[in-house]
Amino acid sequence: MAPTIEAVIFDLDGVITDTAEYHFLAWKQLGEELEIPFDREFNETLKGVSRMDSLDRILALGGKQDAFSPEEKEALAAKKNEHYVELIHHISAKDLLPGITDFLDEIRAAGLKIGMASASKNAFTVVEALGVRHYFDHIVDAATVAQSKPHPEVFLRAAEALHAEPAHCIGVEDAAAGVTAIKAAGMYAVGVGPAETLAESDYRVDSTDQLSLTKILARVSASEA
Ligand code: BG6
Ligand code: MG
Repeated sequence: MAPTIEAVIFDLDGVITDTAEYHFLAWKQLGEELEIPFDREFNETLKGVSRMDSLDRILALGGKQDAFSPEEKEALAAKKNEHYVELIHHISAKDLLPGITDFLDEIRAAGLKIGMASASKNAFTVVEALGVRHYFDHIVDAATVAQSKPHPEVFLRAAEALHAEPAHCIGVEDAAAGVTAIKAAGMYAVGVGPAETLAESDYRVDSTDQLSLTKILARVSASEA
C-alpha cells in the first residue's frame, strides 16, 4: 500500500539548526547565576519544553520552586532569553544542520507540504536568520500555543493549518517531549538523536544527514502494511 503521507512537520531547535545547544548554554548561565548547576543529562528534560516550564524545572531541581514571585520568574525567564538572543545573534544559513536543505528539497519535490511546530517564541527570528522561511507552508510557534510539548497542540495546529490529517503527517523531533507530542497527535514520529532519549519514536536516525524521505516513506509503508 502506498504511504498516505501529506505533510512533514518539523521541530526547529535541534532539528533544523543546533540552537538546542544555545538554549542549553543560556539556561546553564542562568542556572549558575541562581546557584543551580545542572548537566547535559538534566538538560535533555528541558528540550522541547517552553521557556517558563523550563525555568520551573530548573527551580525545582534546586529546591527553589517557591523562592520567586511570578514577576521575579518573568524577569528570570527574560534574562535567560537575553543570554539566548546574544548567542544566536550571528546565526545564518551556515548554521543549518547537515543534510537539512537536501531533505527539505526532497520533501518539496515529492509534493508534500512542510510545516513547523516550535515551542520557541524566537522561531520566526531563527528561521529568517537561517534563510529557510520559504520552505515552510506554515509555522506554528510558542506565541499562539497554550500547551507546551509533550502536549500535542502545536503539532495539531500545524496539521490543521496545512489542511492535513494528523494520521497523514510525519513529525520530526530531537526531544523526548517532542516525540511524545507527535505520537499524542496521532502522527508518525521521526526522532533525530540517541536511542536512549528517543525510544518512543517510530523511526530514528542518529543525525540530520541521515534523514531521507524515501527511507522514511518505506518505513511508513511497512508500518501500514
Ligand atoms: C524549544 C527548545 O524549541 O523552545 C527549548 O527545545 C526552549 O529548549 C523552548 O526552552 C522555548 O524557547 P524560547 O525561545 O521561547 O525561549
Ligand atoms: Mg528540538
